[in-house]
Amino acid sequence: MTSKVRQAGRDRSDEPSVERGGAKAKSPRQFLKEIEQMKDDALAGFSEGKFGELRFGDKELRPEDRPQVIALLKAMVYPERIAADILSSRIPLIPDFDFKLRVAEQASEELQHLNILRGMLAEWGQDPDEMWENPLPELVKVFEYVGGLETLAEFFTANFIGESLLLNANLKVMRAVAPEAFSVYLDVSIPDEAKHIQLNREAIMHYATTAEAQDRARLVAGRLLDSFIEGYKAKLRFMAEMAANRANGENAPKAFSPGRI
Ligand SMILES: [Fe+2]
Ligand SMILES: [Fe+2]
Repeated sequence: MTSKVRQAGRDRSDEPSVERGGAKAKSPRQFLKEIEQMKDDALAGFSEGKFGELRFGDKELRPEDRPQVIALLKAMVYPERIAADILSSRIPLIPDFDFKLRVAEQASEELQHLNILRGMLAEWGQDPDEMWENPLPELVKVFEYVGGLETLAEFFTANFIGESLLLNANLKVMRAVAPEAFSVYLDVSIPDEAKHIQLNREAIMHYATTAEAQDRARLVAGRLLDSFIEGYKAKLRFMAEMAANRANGENAPKAFSPGRI
């Protein structure tokens, strides 16, 4: 079951491989298509508003005066930072140089996104590390799961799902709904995330080549979809909570929930 097909010099991405014992793997391209479909089905749910919608408050106000904008940026500090840590710790386990290099680049780019977020928050008089120290538990769960995945096929599948949903259900929506609030961050992160997704696609086709690897990766894709949705809902709840605090006249940025974790 574990025999690895070396792909040097030849593109086998359309060929199915047959395992010992008769279990049949899909061709890498067919398998990727299946995972893409799972992601597209979830994205359809996002565009229908099934999991709630991102709203960023009164457009008359400056972004730094809108609690929803601040809340979302703060909540995103943890994912950008922990993603870089998790990617870095995976680098030694990646045998193929091209993927190793691109994962290292990705780790560096996630830190650049973090740097932009921290800069925006600091400029607005906010504590940029407040939610690194006190992250939303639903987001912690997502990354604990990804960090603990055993195989590269699972790891890249999880990243593919997470980053595809992040790009399409979060970043592009932020750009569509409130470009004025986020352009500094989105101008850098949107093209980078598209590149990361492409890296994950290629890595899935490279590593998820056996029936066993594909079974495991398929399960991971389903779990990641569910936990991404939980993380997304948690962000919406937190944004609403910050807006309610502000409406009640509290000093929203500092006022939230020491008891949250
Ligand atoms: Fe990022
Ligand atoms: Fe990314």
